[in-house]
Amino acid sequence: MSDISLEQTATLTIDGVTHNLPIVEGIEGDRAIDVRDLLRQTGYTVFDTGYKNSASCCSTITYLDGAKGVLRYRGYAIEDLASKCLFIEVAYLLLHNKLPNRVELENFRTLLESHALIHEDMVHFFDKFPPNASPMSILSVMVNSLHNFYPEMSADPLENIDMTASRLISKIRTIAAFSYKKSIGQPLVYPRNDLSYCGNFLNMMFHTPVRPYLVQPEVVAALNKLLILHADHEQNCSTSAVRLVGSAGGNLYSSISAGINALWGPLHGGANEAVILMLEAIHKDNNDYKKYIAKAKDKNDPFRLSGFGHRVYRTYDPRGTIIKDACDELLGILNVKDPLLAIALNLEEIVLNDPWFVSRNLYPNIDFYSGIIYRALGIPTNMFTVMFALGRLPGWIAQWKEMREDPETKIYRPRQIYIGSPARKFMPLAERS
Ligand code: CMC
Repeated sequence: MSDISLEQTATLTIDGVTHNLPIVEGIEGDRAIDVRDLLRQTGYTVFDTGYKNSASCCSTITYLDGAKGVLRYRGYAIEDLASKCLFIEVAYLLLHNKLPNRVELENFRTLLESHALIHEDMVHFFDKFPPNASPMSILSVMVNSLHNFYPEMSADPLENIDMTASRLISKIRTIAAFSYKKSIGQPLVYPRNDLSYCGNFLNMMFHTPVRPYLVQPEVVAALNKLLILHADHEQNCSTSAVRLVGSAGGNLYSSISAGINALWGPLHGGANEAVILMLEAIHKDNNDYKKYIAKAKDKNDPFRLSGFGHRVYRTYDPRGTIIKDACDELLGILNVKDPLLAIALNLEEIVLNDPWFVSRNLYPNIDFYSGIIYRALGIPTNMFTVMFALGRLPGWIAQWKEMREDPETKIYRPRQIYIGSPARKFMPLAERS
């Protein structure tokens, strides 16, 4: 995939020799020094822990301006997509770089419906997990196992990307709902083709033989919005994990499974669960905000305020703003009074007015309010990150596809600076004191 190479170059002088390094520019003006030939030219690598300063690829999928709080998928503003689209429309957009027309959308919907079931033998897997098994671990195992049941999808997943993507997007929803039903000991509810993507998921989660689930349009709309907001976010930790595994030639299932595992961590997708646990702890502590603020600032305490801060955003996360509004609206419609919302609002105000947080540009991110909506929808805390994964899946697939189709792709293989022991003489066991 081509970047735009500028006439301008950067010069680097090492050991008295000056090297000219090309400068490349993206379509929105983001510039990078092209160091792809640096090691060969100079014998030096670049040292960049956490890849804070490194662009790992060129991409056409998502644009993010962290200073201005701008997010676009395939050129469309997140605000428009979240308020005017269906999640499956956005999934199509991410995969095809175009919004579907009616016929394309209907065809995609039909594919999703026809792949909603999982092989019955896989259903038995759920019986073997202990009752309190984490739904994230179940999800990653089940997605990896799809390779054994639908191997044709791994042979050439790019040949028919709609088929591949719809299978994964549809089946992951069924797997997520089944893992919840198993964890609470209720009978599984199979997918229903007469329901929308989100309605179907909610029905599989909450319908029981003794109490039919009434699919409420407002609840479906809120879930639809949340999934769109999560659908892609350029080269974040889980997406990079998907690309990394895929760069070694790994199949799509194993790459997505790696993405799920990366997402699980509390600094990434696991933050939505961590936020609720933190707000509950503050609630139990008689709303002693000061204690948690002090812990967050203490260099010797690993505690962080979950739901604040972002690697790229230096201002409000635009997704957080949309979620906060959606949260107010949904809680009003459902008449839910959640004490954690008041705690969240207070905490946000304290953080935004505290110079320590202000100087570090720490604003609420997408995970800060999403958990409160999930609670209102009846989704249990340990399923929050699974919800994130459902939303992120189309983005992961689109990024994987882009990486595999890009002739510039190389296996992801960073270098290191070795700081261990110098060469040592080996001692046989008998001679070691
Ligand atoms: N609470 C307290 N201090 C923080 C926080 C926080 N949530 N986030 C960053 N800081 C401080 C950090 O201690 C450091 O301070 P100092 O300069 O004195 O050492 C400074 O801000 C910069 O932090 P960093 O760790 O270098 O920043 P990063 O870009 O590596 O980390 C982050 C980004 C998202 C991992 C981090 O902000 C964080 O841990 N946030 C809490 C977890 C969270 O909400 N994650 C969800 C992110 S959004 C959705 C997603 O990606 O899944």
